Amino acid sequence: MSRVLVIDDEPGLRQSLGLLLGDAGYDVVAEGSGARALERARAEPFDLILCDVRMADMDGLAFLRAYKSGGGPALVIMMSAYGGEEAALAAMKEGAYDYVAKPFRPDEVVLTLRKAEERERLGHTIATLRAQLDSSPAARALIAESPAMRQALDVVARVAAHRTTVLITGERGTGKEVIAQAIHRAGARAAGPFVAVNCAAIPETLLESELFGSVKGAFTGASGDRPGLFEQADGGTLLLDEIGELPLPLQAKLLRVLQESEIRRVGDQKTRRVDVRLLAATAKDLAAEAGAGRFRHDLFDRLNVVTIHLPRLAERREDIVPLARHFAVQLARRLGHGLELSEAAVAWLREQPWPGNVRALEHAIERAAVLTDKEILEPTDFRKEPLPSPSSPGERGEGSGTLREVVEGAERAAIAAALQAAGGNRRAAAKRLGVSLRTLFYKMDRYSVD
Ligand SMILES: Nc1ncnc2c1ncn2[C@@H]1O[C@H](COP(=O)(O)OP(=O)(O)OP(=O)(O)O)[C@@H](O)[C@H]1O
Ligand SMILES: [Mg+2]
Repeated sequence: MSRVLVIDDEPGLRQSLGLLLGDAGYDVVAEGSGARALERARAEPFDLILCDVRMADMDGLAFLRAYKSGGGPALVIMMSAYGGEEAALAAMKEGAYDYVAKPFRPDEVVLTLRKAEERERLGHTIATLRAQLDSSPAARALIAESPAMRQALDVVARVAAHRTTVLITGERGTGKEVIAQAIHRAGARAAGPFVAVNCAAIPETLLESELFGSVKGAFTGASGDRPGLFEQADGGTLLLDEIGELPLPLQAKLLRVLQESEIRRVGDQKTRRVDVRLLAATAKDLAAEAGAGRFRHDLFDRLNVVTIHLPRLAERREDIVPLARHFAVQLARRLGHGLELSEAAVAWLREQPWPGNVRALEHAIERAAVLTDKEILEPTDFRKEPLPSPSSPGERGEGSGTLREVVEGAERAAIAAALQAAGGNRRAAAKRLGVSLRTLFYKMDRYSVD
């Protein structure tokens, strides 16, 4: 049964709405003053609030603002007397869900409430459907043939049901995010949001407001109240990727959030409860970082309750071929034609060192498939271009720098390789890279590649 709070300073109206909505199957509570109603709405859970626009002590708009800025979850429907439409419209802008004009017919009010509930339900259904779509078999495929990966999946299955924080470690491109998603999907929060953020990709000055949100005027450019990623992940899972890059002051704040399950938007006085399962990933050795004073010991202990370590691809060679086949199937779907690996190609792939881990393998298959139009890939299709070397910035395990540095390093390397493969012919190199000649010139200039 839905709970409704009726707020109107007219006793007669409170009474008749109480009877009417009670008959319609609602659990109704009524208040005659905006201030008292606010206290009550903050203390008790309501699904719907019917609020008069004009009241003696606190007008409906002020109630709405106060209620919504405190994160009040109920749908608020305004009631406006003749001539009050403008105020009602203003209320809609402030977050009211709908409004009804007074005087209203009994069935009109009930219908408005039902419609609001129906739309809300629909929204939830859509969100659930979306989550299910995301976890369709194609998206879910997680290859784990090696003993090490099977063991990792075992831990995933065991921790999924709980709210335990899990620290996922492993070099770049080993599949840390894939494991994080698997934990999310296997647990009770699967229908809730999965939000991932790369701590290294967001400038330090913005990170706090990205994570925790901000209120109007908190800093220059903060034009309105904005929820952060923690609030966006409410009811679901938040992955803090590259947590080793989190600045020390934010580490302290994160620890407090984990202890209290409450966040405070930047510039806000009050705290808000959030129900978020936190996952953290890092390519760094956090214990060593803590030893060097760059990572808080207490936060490390708090994150390190359960650790899943993903070994380098070279240490789990059983996964190489199944992964390669999996990527070929995915690519075939995208390219719209068949794509297979010859036996020789399989043997060749199995022997490579794969310093760039799963991601490098994925890229190698993609590059080979795109550069040839054949449906069966041979070792020569892979040899056309050098494999990513361990020293290329995008594939290094540690000290990989900011996202921009990584991307730029990878671009520079790809351009140099394409030019070399094309024997210095720029037009041919641009074609290989799938960019215009103009773009190639621009980037060569920018990265000082000759
Ligand atoms: N076990 C797996 N099965 C299928 N695909 C995988 C697996 N592991 C990794 N991948 C794929 O490899 C790529 C890299 O994986 P992911 O992004 O999870 O790595 P990561 O460890 O988070 O890397 P980074 O440190 O660069 O953030 C992704 O495209 C992912 O889909
Ligand atoms: Mg990642």
